Amino acid sequence: MQLILSMLKVQNIDKLNGIETPFYYYDIDLLQKTVSQIRELSEKHGIKAHYAIKANSDARILRLISAEGLGADCVSGYEVQRAADCGFAPAEIMFAGVGKTDKEIIASLEVGIGCFNVESLPELEVISEIAGERGVKAPVALRINPNIDAHTHKYITTGLEENKFGISEFEFQAAVDFLKAHTETLDFKGLQFHIGSQITDVENVFKLECERVSEIVATFEAMGVTVRNIDLGGGLGIDYEHPDEALVADFETLFETIDRDLVHRPDQQVHIEPGRAIVAQCGSLISRVVFVKNGQKKSFLILDAGMNDLIRPALYGAYHHIENLTSPDGPAAVYDVVGPVCESSDVWGEGRVLPQSRRGDLIALRSAGAYGAVMASNYNLRPLAKAVYSDELK
Ligand code: LLP
Repeated sequence: MQLILSMLKVQNIDKLNGIETPFYYYDIDLLQKTVSQIRELSEKHGIKAHYAIKANSDARILRLISAEGLGADCVSGYEVQRAADCGFAPAEIMFAGVGKTDKEIIASLEVGIGCFNVESLPELEVISEIAGERGVKAPVALRINPNIDAHTHKYITTGLEENKFGISEFEFQAAVDFLKAHTETLDFKGLQFHIGSQITDVENVFKLECERVSEIVATFEAMGVTVRNIDLGGGLGIDYEHPDEALVADFETLFETIDRDLVHRPDQQVHIEPGRAIVAQCGSLISRVVFVKNGQKKSFLILDAGMNDLIRPALYGAYHHIENLTSPDGPAAVYDVVGPVCESSDVWGEGRVLPQSRRGDLIALRSAGAYGAVMASNYNLRPLAKAVYSDELK
């Protein structure tokens, strides 16, 4: 584990120094190790993993993941197209999202995706109509709102009743009736769930989800449909505070919990859709200290990376570990680490203890591989940070 970190710190520092900052640095060895572990666990437990490409849709990263045989979970027609272009088998592409447009539905039917995860009754009607016009059968699963509290940040909780996602219990019968009446246009695959993101109490929260899902699957089968696929969604959390102690997320506990606590038959295929846990730790946003500004009460490290490059701290108050790569061993100092964007929320961390830092030092904002580059913007006309891959530095 330590080796990977020291590669970032020592071996590559000269090469990193020559690159214009800010940029995203991706540790390809770590990504490969993570994805290989998922493939092995998938085979061992008979559970299929579909990578939620919203977490990071960089083509190089997608190709590595598709080469290991994972499927793709997409939330827009653009993601469906990107997944197909980057080597995911069409039958292993799922399309979720509450607002699929006709254009996106048609394009996905043309790609031949494996499943639409349908989030409402009106959507079910539209997909059936479009499939009918084209003389094809659309593969569909129902996204169910299981009404479970995932004990995570309110902006990333999705399984509670008041969320916009999924079909709620009072609509189950109507959905089943519609499916039974439209077998010419709809091929019912099963049920899909997702209760939230950055879940760290893995065993307890996923056990709760499995128990609830088992009940819901039984309810549907009692209504006379066969649930062939059970998709538990994503949500596996990572350690933002100590990235080097947990470079690979706890996939083992996730797979074991599902295998143990989800009631399923051998003819039912279980799926998961992790995003963050696959890509977060392999990415760092690398930046440079532009100025060290000593105020009356505090010192500021002003970086050349801002909230437009990585919006998680400004949007969710998220913590990202900060490291000085140039002077890792200097005497400790306390800084408010901030970005250059004209917003007071453009703050990387307040009162952070770091080695004494100087203008020009390289700073790594860790665990930035998920929901980093994909959520970046051109705010203040700042260009998008480019990607640098560890194996291209060798
Ligand atoms: N499946 C569905 C249906 C989802 O909505 C999501 C994430 C995932 C899978 C993947 O979840 P993950 O394994 O990555 O937790 N921008 C936020 C996270 C938003 C997650 C949205 N849904 C952040 O930066 O924390």
